[in-house]
Amino acid sequence: MEQKENQLKNSAKYRKTEKGKAAAKRDEQSSMGKARHQKYLKTENGWLKHKVRCKKYAEKQKKIKFSDRFKRQKEVSNILDKYFNEKGKREETFFNLRDSKTNRKLRVDIHYPKNNIIIEINGAQHYIPVRFGNISQKKAQENLENYQRREYSKQKYCIERNIKFLTIPYNIPLELIEEFVKRNQNGLILIVSKEFSFAYSHRLHNEFISDEDNKQIFGKCNNKNHHGHNMKVIIEVKGFVNPLTGMVINFVDMKKIVGEYINNVLDHTDFNLDHNDYKIDVSTCENTINKMLEVLSKELPIISKIRVYETPTSYAEIIIDSLNRCGDKW
Ligand code: NI
Repeated sequence: MEQKENQLKNSAKYRKTEKGKAAAKRDEQSSMGKARHQKYLKTENGWLKHKVRCKKYAEKQKKIKFSDRFKRQKEVSNILDKYFNEKGKREETFFNLRDSKTNRKLRVDIHYPKNNIIIEINGAQHYIPVRFGNISQKKAQENLENYQRREYSKQKYCIERNIKFLTIPYNIPLELIEEFVKRNQNGLILIVSKEFSFAYSHRLHNEFISDEDNKQIFGKCNNKNHHGHNMKVIIEVKGFVNPLTGMVINFVDMKKIVGEYINNVLDHTDFNLDHNDYKIDVSTCENTINKMLEVLSKELPIISKIRVYETPTSYAEIIIDSLNRCGDKW
């Protein structure tokens, strides 16, 4: 019965009647507060799913409307133009500025070439998962990670080219923006470092030379039954301190990005047997760095150094600057 009633209410015919029109108007007016979350009510017939209209929820939705974001962006950029005494270039792209993971071209919000500064006007979605258009929490989290990775790609671009980089977060009131820029425009570039460790086994062996030569070159490490290590990995990133968080990167995020790779891919594996990478390359710590860099620099573009300890006293290290591969031009 109830179902039928609902069907009737939603039918095109009903919407054309006076009653229907009034209902449609009501719906439209309260569309921001439209039932989006559900509650369970106890009734005589058991628990019933009940949709609730919630004022607080509606206001929250209103706050993050898309149009508001663009309005703020416009207002902020007008203030900045005045402050820098230069007409900023909006939505500019650069030849080598790309997303480290997708390789898509990136746009910066405003570029002031004469002042040599790139400015990003960040909404809340750059810091916390925001569910625009009621997307799922998981999707919002994914978006947040994408925003952050793109920002790191921009930071890397700026650091390499000696361009200043500043993010203006959503919580700075318009009247304080000038003061904020004055204070933060010469942002600090800092290095942040975190240590990881994992266990693995391997055998140093080059398939393309004879067993005897292998033995001579690699000695004990060529033992045909493999041997194990506890590897310590130190990852460094280099970036601008974000004015809102006071951090270059949250250690938790770093742990998540790097830890995921180390725990899920490398930990408790045999390099020669479990990884196709070492079918050709010898499984030394130098080559391990090479593979790590390939994976991690996509997820974490501001990575500036990787050091791996094969034993407590011996390590290999790469310092990533403009020349970390022979012949590379960045
Ligand atoms: Ni070894």
